[in-house]
Amino acid sequence: MKSPISWIGGKSQLKKRIIEAFPVSESYDRFIDVFGGGGSILFAKDKHVELEVYNDANSDLVNFFRCLKYHRQELQREIRLYLNSREMFFDSQQRLETRGFTDIQRAAMFYVLVKTGFGASLRTFGCNKKRLNTDEFSDIESRLDGVVIENKDFEDLIKVYDRKKALFYCDPPYHKTERHYTVKFTESDHERLCKVLHNIKGKFVLSYNDDEYVRELYKDCRIQAVTRNNSLSSGDFKEVIITNF
Ligand SMILES: C[S@@+](CC[C@H](N)C(=O)[O-])C[C@H]1O[C@@H](n2cnc3c(N)ncnc32)[C@H](O)[C@@H]1O
Repeated sequence: MKSPISWIGGKSQLKKRIIEAFPVSESYDRFIDVFGGGGSILFAKDKHVELEVYNDANSDLVNFFRCLKYHRQELQREIRLYLNSREMFFDSQQRLETRGFTDIQRAAMFYVLVKTGFGASLRTFGCNKKRLNTDEFSDIESRLDGVVIENKDFEDLIKVYDRKKALFYCDPPYHKTERHYTVKFTESDHERLCKVLHNIKGKFVLSYNDDEYVRELYKDCRIQAVTRNNSLSSGDFKEVIITNF
């Protein structure tokens, strides 16, 4: 199943490679998508394991998935009030910054911004022909049944869910591309993540851009180089998949 939204740094193109890097299925009984974003890795399988967790620090993103899970029809009804238009794009952008809207109204405006914006930046109108089609929402609603949706900073989340049989998939903002995200992520966050992951009982699979800084942080882990076409710049983009097993 595909994510209902495309997201900056989304892993739809690499999902097969990333899931191939997972440990054998018997070795984990909980799957935690720590930097969930559009959820490409979570949605890539009908079910990873019994306990699945989607997390992101971006509260608009989390509110969207929560509304889709618990208020799917109301969300679809609300989205039907919108058009793919420049005026509605900028009105939604302004309104998301203000108070007084319900969660469902906010989720609809967020969806309009992601869908009709340029490259999911939420900043620029996309001038694209995308329809605000929500037909796949009912499959997503079923897929999210039983998935725990969290809105936490990664460190707290990892500590809460860490067990010997936990598998954490981590896809943080890439080093030196942090400015593309609404939630601030700094060099000290990369280092904080590295420290947390080096102290877990469970296993991790980590996606990153292939750069010296990242390789140095994880020099004691297994690092596999991969390439994909990148949405933020033209041409191929070198990435790494890092594991602690
Ligand atoms: C590269 S994107 C994840 C893309 C996702 N794997 C996908 O396929 O769509 C990184 C995500 O990390 C989130 N994020 C940033 N800082 C965070 C933090 N401190 N804790 C948890 N999530 C964070 C961002 O909001 C963003 O959605």
